[in-house]
Amino acid sequence: MKYKILIVEDNRKLAGLFQEALGNQFETCIASSLRQARSCLNGIQGILLDLQLPDGEGLDLIGPAHEANPLCVVIVVTAYGSIQEAVKALKLGAADFLEKPVDLEALTQRFRDLLPVQRQEELVYKSARMLEILQEADRVAPTPFPVLITGETGTGKEVLARYIHQHSGRKGFIGLNCASMPRELADSMLFGHLRGSFTGAAEARRGLLSAADGGTLFLDEVGDLPISVQPKLLRFLDSGCYLQLGDVQESRSDVRIIAATNRDLQKAMERESFREDLYFRLSSFPLHIPPLRERREDIMPLVRFHLEKSRALLGREVCLSDRARELLLGYSFPGNVRELFNILDRAALLTGGNITSSSIRPLLDVPSGESALHGNFWIKSRMHTLEKERELISAALAETGGNKAAAARNLKISYKTLLNKMKKLGMM
Ligand SMILES: Nc1ncnc2c1ncn2[C@@H]1O[C@H](COP(=O)(O)OP(=O)(O)OP(=O)(O)O)[C@@H](O)[C@H]1O
Ligand SMILES: [Mg+2]
Repeated sequence: MKYKILIVEDNRKLAGLFQEALGNQFETCIASSLRQARSCLNGIQGILLDLQLPDGEGLDLIGPAHEANPLCVVIVVTAYGSIQEAVKALKLGAADFLEKPVDLEALTQRFRDLLPVQRQEELVYKSARMLEILQEADRVAPTPFPVLITGETGTGKEVLARYIHQHSGRKGFIGLNCASMPRELADSMLFGHLRGSFTGAAEARRGLLSAADGGTLFLDEVGDLPISVQPKLLRFLDSGCYLQLGDVQESRSDVRIIAATNRDLQKAMERESFREDLYFRLSSFPLHIPPLRERREDIMPLVRFHLEKSRALLGREVCLSDRARELLLGYSFPGNVRELFNILDRAALLTGGNITSSSIRPLLDVPSGESALHGNFWIKSRMHTLEKERELISAALAETGGNKAAAARNLKISYKTLLNKMKKLGMM
């Protein structure tokens, strides 16, 4: 069994593209109308939702989807700049929104990140450093104080943000990626606006601060928050008050802010794209998640946790050889936990379940020349025999039903390289 994703999109070509992108890792089905989508919500764990459908608004599906499965991850596709719809969707319980044109790789990764997180799966750790962080998180969780979570990409910042929310006793959790929010609409998106307050504001709209009243607002990639709205956020953090666009009277909202960033805010402050006063306010409770390579004790517990999940999803045994384990324990994981999980998934698919070091090695991102052991050595000693390559390519092709582009993506090689290798190996 794989996670099941429903693609709700009336444009057939686009639906096909989404299906091709998601189809490698998820079981997918397509609905081209609201009516059709409503009739196949059973057993669905994720929904990719276009908002304009021939028989109504996509937003109307979010409620029924959560009735069918409260943990269903809904990702909404919005037209460029139609941010009000995105705000509405987030208020209604969508997990995220993506603007057209949709980056297919980002889309797949978003579902991979959110499906387990939304299902409130465990935060796995063993290292003393993570234990310390969680103890601090437990202490700060029930307070109203803002929290700033920093750490490299894939270290689990969003997982930690949701953990804090779960232990806060607060109502809803709304996540907003500040990098994907059009700058000119940031103010209205966060704080709302009154009717006629700017050109195009035909109706009054509440912002996310109002929608998150009593809950948590997660500002992901806060380093990308437009400088123009930073003073307003600071004022809100200090007083709980904010001014809607076009209003003369301040509004109040009880919202706990959790912010996260994988960027260096110090540099952003030097460049004057991030205000120092806001940084100090946000970072009164800083939580820094160290990269996975600095807490290697966490690697095997994470591997066991993920393989257990793969077993359940794939419906077959998945295990790791001793040498594969050693390889993982020695690897630098520039993409941290996300990369570890991706490597395990790819290797499990390629090998059918028995993950060996030779199935993992090609998936590691080792800069050649940097380390004799990890880089050049493996290449020069030609550990990748032609036979092995043939095996890997056949397995990848079998997995993607013969789709070469998808197979190349899975193998982390270019399409051209795949064709060249296939020619050399006499496979075409
Ligand atoms: N301690 C953990 N236990 C279980 N899963 C984890 C843990 N840390 C990270 N993950 C998993 O790793 C993936 C990436 O985590 P997450 O999205 O929280 O990273 P991030 O720090 O927000 O990355 P980015 O900066 O790229 O947004 C997710 O699938 C998440 O479930
Ligand atoms: Mg994140």
